[in-house]
Amino acid sequence: MDSLSRAVVLVSGRGRNLQALLAARAAGTLPLNITRVITNRPGIPALDIAARASVPGTVLQPKGFSSRAAFDAELARHVAAENPDWVVLAGYMRILDSAFVQQFAGRLVNIHPSLLPRHRGLDTHRRALAAGDARHGATVHLVTADLDAGPGILQGSIAVAAQDTPTSLADRVMHQVETRIYPQALGWLASGRVDFADGRVRMDNRPLEAPIHVDCDST
Ligand code: GRF
Repeated sequence: MDSLSRAVVLVSGRGRNLQALLAARAAGTLPLNITRVITNRPGIPALDIAARASVPGTVLQPKGFSSRAAFDAELARHVAAENPDWVVLAGYMRILDSAFVQQFAGRLVNIHPSLLPRHRGLDTHRRALAAGDARHGATVHLVTADLDAGPGILQGSIAVAAQDTPTSLADRVMHQVETRIYPQALGWLASGRVDFADGRVRMDNRPLEAPIHVDCDST
């Protein structure tokens, strides 16, 4: 266990991605030791998921802090105390300030529910439907100071169905894409198969021109 890379996971909600990471870890397919889960929201399902897997959880709420910078500095202190190789955002619904992003640059990873660069920001499923996108999905990427614009690692997509609503599409993206690609991409990072050099993501020592893409229709 101790020789594995260490990860802290930041969450704000249901924790389905966290659950998928813990399941992959338990199945032996993700060489990552999740040492702590940190959330800004008390009482969320993600904390129960962590507890069931015997992963300690910390609740750190923004109220009482004078500014975003002060809160993020305290968050950074909690994260750094875990000595993490990876800081994994799994539905962490706050924008992190640039000092935090800089402190963990190159080891800060996010999953965004769209085929980036399409649909940065919120409400991605409704926007994909409104735009008439034929395919939709999710992207695992490194986090930089630009929101949802850091270098992509792995992207998965499904065909949008004529009867999809934002809710049905969100569910299908979660179950068919997100829970599959996040453990996969983090496994590549943790094993060193994917790394980050000179501002580029590399796989097997070769720079990636674009994120790897997997078709998730059949899963
Ligand atoms: C996911 O759709 C993720 O892509 C986005 O927030 C959602 C989190 O869901 N960043 P969960 O907490 O993992 O269930």
